[in-house]
Amino acid sequence: MKEIWLKEAFKGEVPNDFQGKVGWSSPSNIALVKYWGKRGKQLPQNPSISFTLSECRSETFIGFEKADRFGFQFFFEGQENPAFGAKIEKFLLDNQAFFPFINQLRLKVESRNTFPHSSGIASSASSMSAFVMGLLEIESQLFGRKIDLRKASYFSRLASGSAARSVFPKMALWGATDCYKGSSDEYAVSLENDIHPVFKTYRDSILIVSGEKKSVSSRAGHGLMEGNPYAPARYAQANENIKNLLAVLKSGDLDTFINITESEALQLHALMMCSNPSFILMKPNTLRIIEEVRNFRNETQIPLCFTLDAGPNVHLLYPEREADKVESFIENTLLSYCADNKWIADRVGDGPKKLL
Ligand code: PMV
Repeated sequence: MKEIWLKEAFKGEVPNDFQGKVGWSSPSNIALVKYWGKRGKQLPQNPSISFTLSECRSETFIGFEKADRFGFQFFFEGQENPAFGAKIEKFLLDNQAFFPFINQLRLKVESRNTFPHSSGIASSASSMSAFVMGLLEIESQLFGRKIDLRKASYFSRLASGSAARSVFPKMALWGATDCYKGSSDEYAVSLENDIHPVFKTYRDSILIVSGEKKSVSSRAGHGLMEGNPYAPARYAQANENIKNLLAVLKSGDLDTFINITESEALQLHALMMCSNPSFILMKPNTLRIIEEVRNFRNETQIPLCFTLDAGPNVHLLYPEREADKVESFIENTLLSYCADNKWIADRVGDGPKKLL
């Protein structure tokens, strides 16, 4: 893949009057089978599958104009943000062989998130994929051809692993597996045409247990998988879960869906507890919510389940037809476990949208 993008790179002279602004909005995603552990240059140790979300998004505008050399400024929610900007700048400089035209441009990036401040929702998947869509839009203006989503996924992966999955509607699979033709460690592929209709409108209600910054970053967490004695067993189990989940996504068997999804969430956190040094990202209220969800499911037979990201917040997953009952359960029972009574009503979405 790398050779193709290198060969295809726009190596010409950028026209002197080349200037403008592009804008893309891109969503976050929530993994069902988790990516936890990487190798080489942002390659996953096991395949992962996610729902693309709809409401939790980043909106990124890139102003560009011809210049003698590369120039870069980054603003987050109206304020210049050199720390976050440095991450994007490094990504651009590391990948300038693929995008040599950036050395003839001055870029001003302005980004914002649609989800609330300090909700603890990871924004790197949405923000990095939104940025990459904008960058490819500039490239497509130079070339005069459409954005290739596989290329968007490839470079989103290099910017932030799980961002590879955010560029496709509904659901995506990232990582090579014998169970899915065309799958790759280098980019994600769309599962949109291989899923039962029930999953196309699935709900994700995100309960904000804590909005505080995580004590251990995802990057450090991935790194700790290297010495983790359970890593080989984990990667084998993840591959097994991918195979079973792909079948479930086709059949719509919600009991098995729940079984795999909850087991994956708990395994992710179990791996953290077995790392050296060990760490715990769940909070007491995370466990209380999990217990309530399991009781509710037993009592009502409503196929509600949970998953967790690398943090304390709980994602509640359920079919759209159950929305009224689950929302009453959230409001009546679960809200008291949430920080400032905060929760976000999200759902499966359609991927990036062009804003400008
Ligand atoms: O993309 P990263 O490096 O932020 O890692 C994401 C890790 C998890 O969110 C825990 C799992 C996943 O597959 O998204």
